[in-house]
Amino acid sequence: MENEKFVIQGLEGQRALSGKIPVRGAKNAVLKAFVASILFENGIRIDNVPFIQDIVSMSELLKHLGVNVEQAGEKSFLLNPSESIGTDLCGDIAKSFRSSIVLTGPILAREGKVTFPHPGGCVIGERPIDVFLESFKKMGADIDVHDRQYIISADKLHGAEIVFKIPSVTATETLMMTAALIPGKTILHNVACEPEIVALADFLNSGGADISGAGSHTIIIKGSDSLLKSKEPYETPPDRIEAGSFAVLAAVCGKDIEITDCRPDHLKVLLHAFDNAGVDFGITENSIRIKFSPQLKAVDIKTHEYPGIPTDIQSPLAVLLTQATGRSFIFETVFEGRLNYLNELARMGADVTICDPHRAFISGITPLRGREMESPDLRAGLAFVIAALVAKGESIVHNIYNIDRGYENIEERLRDVGANIKRI
Ligand code: EPU
Repeated sequence: MENEKFVIQGLEGQRALSGKIPVRGAKNAVLKAFVASILFENGIRIDNVPFIQDIVSMSELLKHLGVNVEQAGEKSFLLNPSESIGTDLCGDIAKSFRSSIVLTGPILAREGKVTFPHPGGCVIGERPIDVFLESFKKMGADIDVHDRQYIISADKLHGAEIVFKIPSVTATETLMMTAALIPGKTILHNVACEPEIVALADFLNSGGADISGAGSHTIIIKGSDSLLKSKEPYETPPDRIEAGSFAVLAAVCGKDIEITDCRPDHLKVLLHAFDNAGVDFGITENSIRIKFSPQLKAVDIKTHEYPGIPTDIQSPLAVLLTQATGRSFIFETVFEGRLNYLNELARMGADVTICDPHRAFISGITPLRGREMESPDLRAGLAFVIAALVAKGESIVHNIYNIDRGYENIEERLRDVGANIKRI
């Protein structure tokens, strides 16, 4: 709900939280699996679905296009496309979240046409779609743009050799799905290699697609115009961004916290930074345990495409750096609007110098003061919740619908490890 807020009592720097936090299915994986339903002849089943607002939005959009979406168990959904899929994505839902752009390719491949608005999502930079448009053109599509509405059509699409100017995650997923339904061979160069892309490729292959190279920077798709046939459910992988963000929370507020149901091997570079920062942690194949870490040290952070430190964990990490001794440097290389939230951390008492839209210094240790603030986007919103827990006194975080877009029932899960946080 638009006017809900979190009221949080800070721990005043005490490392007091303890217990287990299980990680949910990955938002940026499951949304693409929902989109993949359009490529199938029969229904697909998706397991380990997190209850987040972006799933509600995606379900509404798919229903509008003619996909039957049904909940089939506590965390399972069945998606069944009708014989013909709508081609018009216009409307406020598509504008409200970035993943809507991923629908364009499968609809174009299946129906030969798609109309859509420029996608929205978190305000973290320009977020152009030129890689998508250029790739569709290479596959034989015509593109018309009026007033930030795109109309893409093609009599016949064909496989193509495409070089991405930048390894965009959603463009990689979109073009991989598009090419699966186009006869002929498509080679995508300089693509992203996030684990969510591998999960999607594996699922498409289980339904009859022929995709190789996912997880590397070159993907080859041998497409066919027959729809895929679902044989096994899609198991949503654990959310590595959630796991990493909870690990940061544990490092600054935890006495002994175990983050379960996750994949530490997806967070190698982050955990390397933890080592350098003096965080006391241990891992198993599917958990990270963080113990009382009294003396955190400054560390330089550079965000990068996978397997580097994810840009989506940059803002929680900044909170950790305010509690580390010395001067740390943050270099945000992926987006150019993703450091603005640092001004709010400075108002809480952090010692922050923003050099330019990509670079900032943080010096610590500084105590933080509770404040009333607005969550500017999903990830910075969670960073404010963590900062509020570190701070002295009460904080109020507004605009929490931003946080609900990507984190299931966050307040209850934080309360389970002892945090004092209420939704009002
Ligand atoms: N870019 C272009 N042209 C394009 C597409 C992207 O120049 O056509 C640029 C972007 O402006 C950005 C860079 O490429 O500078 C990388 O962006 P990318 O396309 O990889 O990001 P995305 O696919 O829009 C996904 C996640 C983001 C995550 C980024 C980077 C989804 C729905 N979103 O976005 O997640 O930060 O990859 O890993 O998968 C979030 O979950 O909070 C979130 C923002």
